[in-house]
Amino acid sequence: MRILSGIQPSGALHIGNYLGAIRQYVALQDANDAYYFVADYHALTSVRDAATLHKYVSDVLVDLLALGLDPERAVLFVQSDVPETVELSWLLTSVTPMGWLEKCVSYKDKVQQGLPAEHGLFAYPVLQAADILLYDADLVPVGQDQKQHLEITRDVAERFNHVYGGKKKEVFRLPKPYILDSVAVVPGLDGRKMSKSYSNTIEIFDEPAAIRKKVKKFVTDSTPVEAPKDPDADPLFGLFKLFAKEADRDEVERRYREGGIGYGEVKTRLGEALIETFAEARERRADWVAHPERVAAVRAAGAEKARATARKVLDRARAACGLG
Ligand code: ADP
Ligand code: TRP
Repeated sequence: MRILSGIQPSGALHIGNYLGAIRQYVALQDANDAYYFVADYHALTSVRDAATLHKYVSDVLVDLLALGLDPERAVLFVQSDVPETVELSWLLTSVTPMGWLEKCVSYKDKVQQGLPAEHGLFAYPVLQAADILLYDADLVPVGQDQKQHLEITRDVAERFNHVYGGKKKEVFRLPKPYILDSVAVVPGLDGRKMSKSYSNTIEIFDEPAAIRKKVKKFVTDSTPVEAPKDPDADPLFGLFKLFAKEADRDEVERRYREGGIGYGEVKTRLGEALIETFAEARERRADWVAHPERVAAVRAAGAEKARATARKVLDRARAACGLG
């Protein structure tokens, strides 16, 4: 199967990105034909400083490598190294009804959060459809928040196929989202979905001291230590159970139900579990950071492979609609 996913370089990666997306990227790279990219065209809708964007792109590349993406097994590339993406995006945008984009929640959310109501933000799902269709993807590992974008991608592909595909010919393959229920929405420090835009994140590669400090900020209620608590209703436990070893998870869960565990202890243990989970990746990251020429070589090789695949699909789409 062809797997494809992208992640925006709009700041340091957080543990929601890891559980909701990157861990699945790594798991799927072995038995499949996987393509993963850094979505820098998409980040233009929010990052408006060239030096910052440059830095974020190389940070995300390094983070993905450190977290276990293997350039021998997956194609790792940067979106704008494949400018064919933008051409396909125009072909798709020409058959996309305005109404489909008007109903997108991510546009409305972002404008509400204060991003300017620009056309790039509005057309963002069409660019994402181009990313996916350009590589004949079968499966797209993402968090729950991307589900609507995947639906639009399928709708746009079907419409293009209908308009230009003729009776039997399918121009585009229809992709499916791959969303794991248990990590579809990872909670942030305030209990809402962890997201850069809510400033409630725990960054994967923060220094251990910073991680310890950050988990202390997790917002909890005022139930006293002795009182029994419902672990299923507590976002702090929700996060802890995703990182704790099984025995620790069972012990803490039991003490929630019996009473006798305070949130402070859970926070401390969550911090230690996070530091341990990412200890090896932190070491691998330092190694990639010390060898920028290796990162550049991975990027160049990825671009070459991705472009070769993209070119074929783009030519198919151009021919279907009568260009060239
Ligand atoms: P953010 O919301 O912080 O800007 P992105 O939109 O860059 O994060 O997300 C990159 C990937 O990580 C996407 O596949 C997204 O669905 C996933 N993701 C982000 N936050 C979470 C979360 N809290 N829980 C699960 N998955 C998430
Ligand atoms: N929109 C996605 C996000 O914010 C990033 C993304 C861009 C993407 N293109 C993609 C994800 C293609 C999957 C497939 O997280």
